Formats: sequence, C-alpha cells, structure tokens
Amino acid sequence: MFMRNNLLKSTLVLVSALMSSAAFAQGAPAHFGFGTAVTPQDLAGYFSIPPDGRGLPAGSGNATAGAKIFAENCAACHGDKLQGNPERGIGGDRLVGGRDTLATKTPIKTVESYWPYATTLFDYVKRAMPFNAPGSLRDDEVYAVVSYILSEAKIIKPTEVMDAKTLPKVLMPNRDGFIPDARPELSLYR
Ligand code: HEC
Repeated sequence: MFMRNNLLKSTLVLVSALMSSAAFAQGAPAHFGFGTAVTPQDLAGYFSIPPDGRGLPAGSGNATAGAKIFAENCAACHGDKLQGNPERGIGGDRLVGGRDTLATKTPIKTVESYWPYATTLFDYVKRAMPFNAPGSLRDDEVYAVVSYILSEAKIIKPTEVMDAKTLPKVLMPNRDGFIPDARPELSLYR
C-alpha cells in the first residue's frame, strides 16, 4: 500500500511538472497579465476632460465640417435634426432643445438643456460615440461634430471654431443648475 501511494504521488508530481513546463512553453502566464507594464497606448483610452479643458488634444473643427460628420456617423441614431430616434428602436437621445424645461412637469433632457460643461461633450463623444464604433473619429472630427451640436443648439455661432482653447470657454445654458458636490475626488468639477 505504501509503495502504491508513493508511486502514485511521484507520478502526480511528474505529471504536474510536465504540465507546468508545457504551460510555460506556451506563454501561459500572460493569461493573467501579471508583470506586464502598462504602456501609454494602453492608457490612452482612459481619460477624462474636466470643465477647464485640461487634457483636450490638439486639433480643431467647425460646424460646417461637423454637419457632414454628423450626417454620416450620428444621424441614423440621433435623427437628422438631432431630435433623437427612439421610435426606430436604436435609442439615440435627442441632443438639442428643451431649454428651460427641466423644472417643468415635462422636462426634456438634452445636451442643450441639461449639460453644464461643453468639455464633457468632447470627452463623451470621443470616448463613447458613435455608439457602434467608439473611438473611430479623429480629434478634428470630434471637435467638428461638437461644434455642430453646440451650433444647432444655438450655444455658439455657426462660424465659431472649437479647439482646446475655445471649448472650455463656451458657457452652457444650464451651467448654474447644479449643486456643488463637496467630495474631494470631484474637486475639478467645482
Ligand atoms: C448606433 C446608434 C448611435 C450612433 C451611430 C451614435 N449614437 Fe450617440 N447615443 C446612442 C445611444 C444609444 C446613446 C445613449 C447611451 C447611454 O445612455 O449609455 C447615445 C448618447 C449620446 C449622447 C449623450 C446624450 C445625453 O443627453 O445623454 C451624445 C452627446 C451622443 N450620443 C452623440 C453622438 C454623436 C456626436 C454621434 C456621431 C459621432 C453619435 N452619438 C452616434 C446611439 C448612437
């Protein structure tokens, strides 16, 4: 019995040694990602643009260029007049209108009526839109489509160029509609 157990044990040891060397040969540790340095490219997808615009990239765009980008990349879901498209089941929100409706019985929440900072529009579109292909637009294209939305909302003039300097200066209609949040991690948003 003693012999059999020992034999069994050493067989198991041998099998597991073989398995782990095979695993090493195939580069299995990468499966867990241990010890792999994070590259700047890895981090590039994780960003957040606060109201003062820090972190906004180089580049620029205006509403004329933005209208074309919107028609090609956004209108299918958000409507050709930025009116939203819920009835077709795609679910793109309405993006303009509804100003001064938030405190009424039928509030309409849009970028125009609700969002306090224009920089959030750049941040969100660059990171999350188009919904079906996030991250596919170049920075110039994001600035342009942001200009188009702000211009259609009559927050900026159709001729204004949006870039890292001008966008943080745009005053959104509902900028004073929020109560400051005292949590330290939100200090950039006060
Ligand atoms: C395939 C459909 C689709 C496309 C294409 C699309 N969107 Fe969206 N968009 C959505 C959906 C769905 C949401 C809501 C996402 C959520 O709440 O998580 C949304 C949300 C948004 C919002 C936030 C609205 C709000 O008030 O919360 C903005 C701004 C926006 N999209 C802009 C764009 C722009 C600009 C483009 C083109 C570059 C675009 N979207 C393309 C489906 C789409």
